[in-house]
Amino acid sequence: MPIRPATPEDAGAIAAIYNDAIASTTAVMYHTAQPVALWHGKLAAERSPRHPFLVTADDAAGVVGFAKLDAFDPRCGYDDIADLAVYIHAEHRGRGVGRALMRALIDAGRDAGLHSVLARITADNAASIWLHESLGFQHVGTYRALGHKFGQRHDVSEYQLVLG
Ligand SMILES: CC(C)(COP(=O)(O)OP(=O)(O)OC[C@H]1O[C@@H](n2cnc3c(N)ncnc32)[C@H](O)[C@@H]1OP(=O)(O)O)[C@@H](O)C(=O)NCCC(=O)NCCS
Repeated sequence: MPIRPATPEDAGAIAAIYNDAIASTTAVMYHTAQPVALWHGKLAAERSPRHPFLVTADDAAGVVGFAKLDAFDPRCGYDDIADLAVYIHAEHRGRGVGRALMRALIDAGRDAGLHSVLARITADNAASIWLHESLGFQHVGTYRALGHKFGQRHDVSEYQLVLG
């Protein structure tokens, strides 16, 4: 399925995918749905080549997943480090969409001169850990009981992919 840069018109579909992950997974530590306007604002803002925001979409299914790189930290000494996020519609998981999006995102980040891509993954997220490790991310540590959701505290692991 084609991968392309996200546009403000994708905000509704992206919000729906993200809000479903909020409601049903520990992947994201929000407890309540986030508004479409928040995504619209992010997508309307100019993004640097180091911070691509990609979707997988076609005319039949619409947007089935998204992945993005964001600045890790505003201090200039970290300006070539990015945080990665990837979310696939529940009905389209397990079909290679996440892997293809991450590959495209990592290639774009490498081409734009990033040194490293970081990912923080809730320790019970086996699919995400497998996917990141299979793309070369290395486990650099685990924060104990860092997040709380669904009445429990959750360990969160830090992963790094060195590009440069
Ligand atoms: C994690 C996620 C992004 C993966 O995307 P996806 O499109 O389903 O993944 P893919 O189909 O590309 O599969 C990636 C790999 O994960 C493996 N996988 C899938 N579910 C798995 C599981 N429960 N345990 C272990 N591996 C699993 C697949 O077998 C595949 O490996 P392979 O290519 O070696 O066969 C997706 O499941 C998702 O959106 N989950 C909810 C949100 C989330 O967790 N985001 C990541 C936050 S860190």
